[in-house]
Parts: sequence; structure tokens; C-alpha cells
Amino acid sequence: MGFLDIENLRKEFGDTVAVDGISLSVEEGEFVTVVGPSGCGKTTTLLNIAGLQLPTAGSIQLRGRDLTSLPAYERDIGVVFQDYALFPHKTVAENIAFGLKMRGADEAEREAKVEEMLSIIDLEGYEDVYPHECSGGEQQRVAVARALAFDPDLVLMDEPLSNLDKKLRGTMRTELKRIQRETGITTIYVTHNQTEALSMGDRIAVLNDGRIEQFDDPKAAYEQPTSPFVANFLGTSSRIDGELRLEPEPKVRMGNASVAVEERPGFDDGDRVAVFVRTELASLHVSRPSEENAFSGTIRDIDYQGSEAVYFVSVPEFDAPLQVSDRVSGATLDPGNEVWVSVDPSDVIYTSVEGSTDGARREQLAVEGQ
Ligand SMILES: Nc1ncnc2c1ncn2[C@@H]1O[C@H](COP(=O)(O)OP(=O)(O)OP(=O)(O)O)[C@@H](O)[C@H]1O
Ligand SMILES: [Mg+2]
Repeated sequence: MGFLDIENLRKEFGDTVAVDGISLSVEEGEFVTVVGPSGCGKTTTLLNIAGLQLPTAGSIQLRGRDLTSLPAYERDIGVVFQDYALFPHKTVAENIAFGLKMRGADEAEREAKVEEMLSIIDLEGYEDVYPHECSGGEQQRVAVARALAFDPDLVLMDEPLSNLDKKLRGTMRTELKRIQRETGITTIYVTHNQTEALSMGDRIAVLNDGRIEQFDDPKAAYEQPTSPFVANFLGTSSRIDGELRLEPEPKVRMGNASVAVEERPGFDDGDRVAVFVRTELASLHVSRPSEENAFSGTIRDIDYQGSEAVYFVSVPEFDAPLQVSDRVSGATLDPGNEVWVSVDPSDVIYTSVEGSTDGARREQLAVEGQ
């Protein structure tokens, strides 16, 4: 049994199934990120753990205690929402001390805790300041302090950084991780930002359509996704479907072309697989490279992104153009130029085509009338 055990959590709203049987076991002190597209059930899952909604079915246990039907105030869970929701007419100190006051802590204890929290969030001296006098990032840190101040067993955060600009987001991401390390509080952190999920999580849960597609350490989820959905959701890549051949060397055949891959456990000769070439793992060359997986093609489009550019290269053997990101170097490349794309066999990701809940796959099956 874990520290937090969620079993078969289900939440329906009329005909809508928002959470469709989620099971998740979280260790004490762990930082779990939950990621998935809009509407996949992330917020609903958090609200049910927090007790702000009651599940249709399933159970939630924390430290071996069944919380499933306890009201929110009887669960020791701190929550940080996207819009911070600080009390506007309370000072920073009163906001932070709120949970402690509700739980009957005396003034001396509250003052000591506020001081400790202000030091952790690096806002010493802000006791008497009101939320509207704080910047977005400062309000965000106060919201985190408020959620942590009463020493909860668990903290839930729902996209707490999405209102901040890109630079502040980056800083706050590091700050939040530091605060979590210092306090050691078990945290579940919802985001739809893949970078955030990959960089912050000890483990990452990828949700799709109310279900968990993969719950793994970030590196495994990124490098060895177990479904096309996960491969597609984490990072940018080009997808090509084909058939796995293990002899004489492992490769995936698609029509006349093939891509050399590494052998992976759980796959057999002849399996239909979805191959993913990660944009950042493919390389662009102006002349034929010596690599095994090298394909010649034509640049169709260039997406300039500051320090990098993404090239869309159509390769005759493949139906979909390959996307390659590359530093904008001395060589000037334009649409229409002939180039080569290479990818190391160990960097080629593949997952089973079958058994996935990928939306694209379902559409494909519907088209095929299966
Ligand atoms: N109170 C509600 N009443 C009816 N339907 C709801 C309610 N709350 C959520 N839903 C539906 O449940 C599904 C999951 O919603 P949820 O808010 O959990 O998604 P999410 O993953 O948090 O999305 P986002 O990234 O956009 O915040 C959606 O289809 C949503 O429309
Ligand atoms: Mg949400």
C-alpha cells in the first residue's frame, strides 16, 4: 500500500464521464505531475482527492485512512488553484495563517508559522501587505505558503503557474520544486505543459479521456512511451506506422522504406507499430550523412522559433513530413532545398498500434469500419 492510494476513481456528470476509473499509488514525499489535454479529467481528479467533489465510485486512502466520503475540511490536504484565490481583504499573514486558524492554532503558533513560511517563499516582511499589492508571482507564492502552512499530508496544485509569463513561470517552477524539497510534502501537480510535467515530476501520470495512459518516471515516459498517445503528447514528433522486423537487424518497414530501431522487450516480429521520430533527436544535413537511418527529402516549410527552427521535410518513402529542429547555423536553408534527415536507431521510439486509446487510432478504426 502506498501513502496515497486511489482505486478505480470514477466521476460522472450526467452522461459525461469525467474520470473513468483512475488508480494511482503515490509514495510519501513524492512529487507527481499529472498531465493531459484539456478536458481529460485532471481538475476533476484533484477536486475528488481534495473532497471538493464526491466520486461516483472508487476509493481514496491517505496514510491508510479512507477519505472517500469525508468532507474537505476533515482531510489534511492543501490546495493551490490556477487563480490563487487569495482572500483579498486579508493580509498576506492572515492568508497564510488561515488553515491554522481554522484548525484552532493559537496566535503565537500562527505567527511563528507565518514567519517560517515567509522565509521559505522568500517574502520576509510581507506580513501586512494585501494581495492586490503583490505581483502575480508573489501572490502565487503566498497561495503556496497558505496551502503548506498547516502541515498538510498532501498538497494538490492545479495549474498554479498558468497565469504567469514565460520567464516567471520558469523561475517559479524552480522555486516550487525547492519549496517542496525543503518541506518534503507529498505533492500532486496538474499541468498541461509537458516541459513542466517532465522537469518537475518524480513521476508523471499521463491522462487521456479520464484514464491514466502511463504512470512512470519522466525519462521512461518520454523515451519509452507505452502508447501512441503518450508518445505524441510528450514532445513533438512525426509518426509513421509500419511493421516490426527483428531479422537480420531490428527495423520497422513501411512500404518500400524502413527505419532501423533497437530491439525492445515486449515486441515480436511482425507487430504493427507506430514509429515516432522526435523533432529534437533528428538531424538535418545538406549532403548524405554516413548514418544508418538517413533519408533524402525536400524542405516544405520552415518554422522559425528564435534560437531554433523546425524544418518540415517531405521524404518520398513516408506519408507524413518529418519535423526536424536544428540550430539556425551558417547554412541558409529555404523551402524547396534538398536535404538529408538522419536519426539514430536508439532514438527511434515505437509503440504498439493496437491496444491504445489514442484518439487518432480510434478515428482510423472508425474509418476502416472496425
Ligand atoms: N461540474 C461539471 N459538470 C459537468 N461536466 C463537468 C463538470 N466538471 C467537469 N466536467 C466535464 O468533465 C470533463 C473533465 O473536466 P476537467 O475539468 O476535469 O478537465 P481538465 O483535464 O482539468 O481540463 P483543463 O486542462 O481544460 O483544465 C470535461 O469534459 C468537462 O466538461
Ligand atoms: Mg483543469
